[in-house]
Amino acid sequence: MNLKSDKSQGGVASQSCPPPTPSADLSAGGAQHVAIIMDGNGRWAKERSKPRIFGHRQGANAINEVMKAAQKHNLKYLTLYAFSSENWSRPKAEVEALMKLLVSSINRYEKNFLKNKIRFSTIGDLSALPKESLDAVERLKKITAAFDEFTLVLALNYGSRDEILRASAAFAKANAGQKNINKPSWEEFSKYLDTAFMPDPDLIIRTSGELRLSNFLMMQSAYSELYFTDVYWPDFTEAEFDKAMNDYNGRERRYGKTGEQLK
Ligand code: FPP
Repeated sequence: MNLKSDKSQGGVASQSCPPPTPSADLSAGGAQHVAIIMDGNGRWAKERSKPRIFGHRQGANAINEVMKAAQKHNLKYLTLYAFSSENWSRPKAEVEALMKLLVSSINRYEKNFLKNKIRFSTIGDLSALPKESLDAVERLKKITAAFDEFTLVLALNYGSRDEILRASAAFAKANAGQKNINKPSWEEFSKYLDTAFMPDPDLIIRTSGELRLSNFLMMQSAYSELYFTDVYWPDFTEAEFDKAMNDYNGRERRYGKTGEQLK
């Protein structure tokens, strides 16, 4: 039986106990949030003797199909690691191309977001983005803000260590002058994380055969299931997403309890 974390927007985590579910059922396991480390664009391009940005463009194309698949699986949130706080150290031309790709992808996907009532959101420190990218991001957020069925979250200039430092500073500022600050609960503190508006990821997928989290949702993944595939991100299709979900749906989540306690 799965124990799910069920945290509503900016709310406090609670646990519920949905009934056992067969893996064939698309909504089995009750996952609400899947997060993906989209890796392998560069190698995908290299195998085709193309520049890295060609791989990123193909990677951007793959997003649409995965968004549809996520909705089909009744997810509420899909978070994609698009640009990490460490990615600034890539060659300048690649960084610039990624920032441009962000703008062109937003422009291209805008109609789709509106038609399918998809809310657009972000995590990460947007203050470092070039103005053109920031404007595009803020505009899409604004025009999709009222949708509440499904949210696509892009991690942009995001890194868990940066996030925890920003959250700590914001927490300290908010509580300055209070005499009795004891250890805060995780629920209190996590309201200052970028992810406060959504539940922790049920499943984290990483493509391209790399087996690490790379500073992605390190606090939020405490009880996430992890799924790794050798498939490069540009080749990650709906069928690959289904495979990951079926794998997830067959798992038992114990949250520190014994298997016996969950029966
Ligand atoms: C990792 O592949 C991918 C990224 C750092 C960028 C992810 C970007 C996209 C999927 C395109 C959409 C982008 C935006 C900004 C909307 P890699 O370059 O590290 O691949 P490699 O490990 O094979 O070199």
